[in-house]
Amino acid sequence: MAVKHVVRFEPVGIEIEVDEDQNILRAAAEQGITLMHGCKEGQCSSCKSFVLDGEDPELDKYSTFALPDSEKEEGYTLLCRAHVYEDVTIELLNYDEEMIRSGKPIQEAVAEVVSNELVTHDMRHLVVKLVEPQDIEYWPGQYVDIAIPNTEETRSFSMANTTSKDGGRLEFVIKVYPDGLFSNFLNTKVQVGDRLDLVGPFGVFTLRDRESDIVFVGGGAGMAPILCLLRTLAERGSTRKVTYYYGARTKRDLCFEDELHSLFETLPNFRFVPALSMPDDDTWDGEVGLITDVMKQHETDLAEADSYVCGPPPMVEAAIDMLSGLGASDKNIYYDKFTTTGEPT
Ligand SMILES: Cc1cc2nc3c(=O)[nH]c(=O)nc-3n(C[C@H](O)[C@H](O)[C@H](O)COP(=O)(O)OP(=O)(O)OC[C@H]3O[C@@H](n4cnc5c(N)ncnc54)[C@H](O)[C@@H]3O)c2cc1C
Ligand code: FES
Repeated sequence: MAVKHVVRFEPVGIEIEVDEDQNILRAAAEQGITLMHGCKEGQCSSCKSFVLDGEDPELDKYSTFALPDSEKEEGYTLLCRAHVYEDVTIELLNYDEEMIRSGKPIQEAVAEVVSNELVTHDMRHLVVKLVEPQDIEYWPGQYVDIAIPNTEETRSFSMANTTSKDGGRLEFVIKVYPDGLFSNFLNTKVQVGDRLDLVGPFGVFTLRDRESDIVFVGGGAGMAPILCLLRTLAERGSTRKVTYYYGARTKRDLCFEDELHSLFETLPNFRFVPALSMPDDDTWDGEVGLITDVMKQHETDLAEADSYVCGPPPMVEAAIDMLSGLGASDKNIYYDKFTTTGEPT
């Protein structure tokens, strides 16, 4: 059995035990402590923290974009990659009081494919039904890791469905990369009735319980968790003012339009603002331009708003800058960067 050490988190004063062969983030999650994280692969920097006391943890492979050498030397670390070999105290740079003790148990599960349809020319809508166990608990906005058969690899995918309906049914929106290990497999091999192994839930892109206005900004498959959050707000009959800015290149990159345009029937203060950056169709009478520019034309003051951003990392970073420029407070900007595993570091 692996040797355990105590990791203490400040300023929250929480202590956990961590096996030497486990990373700190995973050990915390297994003990019901949800620390800030995104990719879990050392790429997004969401879990960056500071070592206050004890030897610097040893890190599995990570990107120096997430943790530059200079920061590592100062004592910063990535909790999703960090292994400890003695007791340490870690300062959490970024944490959410509301989330930290609200973790749902991580479970391994087997699911059967119910449908696997194209929703755009390069995005698929995958629906699975859990078989063993028949349901898992998660917060709207979270994701699971799906195993790629006959490899040691997994990929993360966010649930697009709400947690209340059709227990055990999970819905995903997945972008297809022609050479992508999982997405190409999904596009060319996965059939109804096939079984997939998954583990989860993970993620902190969850709905905060407030009454403020909400701005969603999405691009590409970032649609998935935003759809989940919108459907959840609709199920709850929310009267919050909600605006969804969704950026796509061309009309054929848009999906779930009918559902989104009719969502105001259940969400009375909802507005869907899709924008095309490269409209190739004269019939398009919606917004044109980068989604961040379009948002800037529509919004003037987001000081009191909650913002949720999800999609490819460059879009997420640009949107966070724009939201800050419009007065949104950093602590009320929530985001998931869909980093890709194969990305060059
Ligand atoms: C928290 C989180 C949640 C996520 N949720 C979702 C989600 O809901 N939906 C979703 O679609 N993705 C999601 N992702 C991304 C997902 O996990 C995978 O990384 C992604 O699907 C790519 O996996 P892959 O195995 O298909 O590609 P990989 O084999 O990992 O290849 C990935 C890299 O290769 C590049 N690449 C591959 N083929 C080509 C090609 N022909 N042309 C150009 N570049 C290429 C891609 O740009 C990419 O950088 C999420 C990621 C994170 C971190
Ligand atoms: S770098 Fe740790 S969660 Fe992304």
